[in-house]
Amino acid sequence: MRICVIGTGYVGLVTGCGLAEFGMKVTCVDKVVEKIDMLQRGELPIYEPGLKDLMEKNVTSGRLKFSTNIPEAIRNNLVLFLAVGTPSDEDGGADLRHLFTAVEEIAENINDYKVIAIKSTVPVGTAKQVIQRISKRAPDATFDVVSNPEFLREGSAVEDFLHPNRVVIGTNSKQATAIMKDIYSPLYLIETPFVITNNETAEMIKYASNTFLAAKISYINEVANICELVGADVHVVARAMGLDGRISRKFLHPGPGFGGSCFPKDTRALYHLAKKKGYDPVMISSVIHVNERQKRRMVEKIKRRVGGDLNGKLIGVLGVSFKPNTDDIRESPAIFVMKKLLEAGASVQAFDPAAMKEARKVFHEAISYVEDAYEAANGADALVLMTEWNQFRGLDLQELKTRMRSPIFVDTRNVYDPQKMEQAGFIYEGVGR
Ligand SMILES: NC(=O)c1ccc[n+]([C@@H]2O[C@H](COP(=O)([O-])OP(=O)(O)OC[C@H]3O[C@@H](n4cnc5c(N)ncnc54)[C@H](O)[C@@H]3O)[C@@H](O)[C@H]2O)c1
Repeated sequence: MRICVIGTGYVGLVTGCGLAEFGMKVTCVDKVVEKIDMLQRGELPIYEPGLKDLMEKNVTSGRLKFSTNIPEAIRNNLVLFLAVGTPSDEDGGADLRHLFTAVEEIAENINDYKVIAIKSTVPVGTAKQVIQRISKRAPDATFDVVSNPEFLREGSAVEDFLHPNRVVIGTNSKQATAIMKDIYSPLYLIETPFVITNNETAEMIKYASNTFLAAKISYINEVANICELVGADVHVVARAMGLDGRISRKFLHPGPGFGGSCFPKDTRALYHLAKKKGYDPVMISSVIHVNERQKRRMVEKIKRRVGGDLNGKLIGVLGVSFKPNTDDIRESPAIFVMKKLLEAGASVQAFDPAAMKEARKVFHEAISYVEDAYEAANGADALVLMTEWNQFRGLDLQELKTRMRSPIFVDTRNVYDPQKMEQAGFIYEGVGR
């Protein structure tokens, strides 16, 4: 089966490599020439564990290649996966500009039957719009549009793609369903559940899933904030809650609020979609509101600990990416916190194991970029752990303390034990403990 993946970001690249691994012949295309140049040289434009090996293996086998010739890739392949970005627009809806540009390109170059599989996260009704746009531009074209949302997590994307919890295939076409099932047939062997449904339901599944996970995070953050007021330990609370199979322990980790390229924009998009249809989604609105407040609370914690005024203070920041094992900083709480610290007159020195290049694109010369966690502590009035990279879990506390101006440690991920931190001489603050 010949496949083209349009868009080689976190999802497109993993999809391309993963489908090649399933035995498909895959061409990955992108409009950004530098990205494709890098990929053709065998370099990854993103940090994603395990992806380089998978890419090299499949390029060597001749099943995977990269190109900027999008028209040719559209004409030469049967299945066209759309994996372009769908960021928020200014009022919180999904900005479908990139998707529709790619769709126009398909309409211009469609030569015989195609399956157009939408992997990007798109609002309910988008598949229908894609069908209308192509039919208008190319009235004689034969094609089906499948909604095939992706659930991979950055940081474990390869594993998630090769061993997903489920595959969702949304279309009314028998032919397209058969082709999609064929593509994912290696997953039958490992008994992955398939959900075959219509486009609208498939589109909704993705938003409903992400918003639910975001809701769990906002919920435990709210519980954590109440715990702080009543002297309870949210960790014990969350653990005990998670032992109930109906609740499950996953996504019950209090922290600085959710970030990344999906949860914030997807919750906003579902809220926006509901509003557009005349429904007031009170719960989703609260999920978003609690999250915004949580990020601000982290800044307040730091401010309070350094004596109520951030002006002139030096803050060391550990972790910039929105979670460990990725260089993705889109809507990272760390970025939010650092911006607020700078606005309040503080200086920031930050370290992240993978996201320093991305951080520079945001802050340029406004912060200092240091080489490791210990350097981030040098002369600092407070050290703030923003991302729970493994290498921040076992830091030499005495070494940190001797380097700092004052031993204030704000642990927004609750990585460290409050008692041990206090025994080590730190003024420690976590979340909900
Ligand atoms: N990142 C995730 O963890 C994740 C997980 C599941 C779903 N998704 C969804 O998948 C989609 C892609 O997300 P991402 O994080 O990979 O985005 P990304 O920004 O990393 O990648 C998008 C790529 O598409 C390219 N592109 C944009 N317009 C194009 C066009 N017209 N033709 C060719 N290439 C084009 C861009 O240059 C970029 O390389 C989004 O809808 C997102 O919500 C993301």
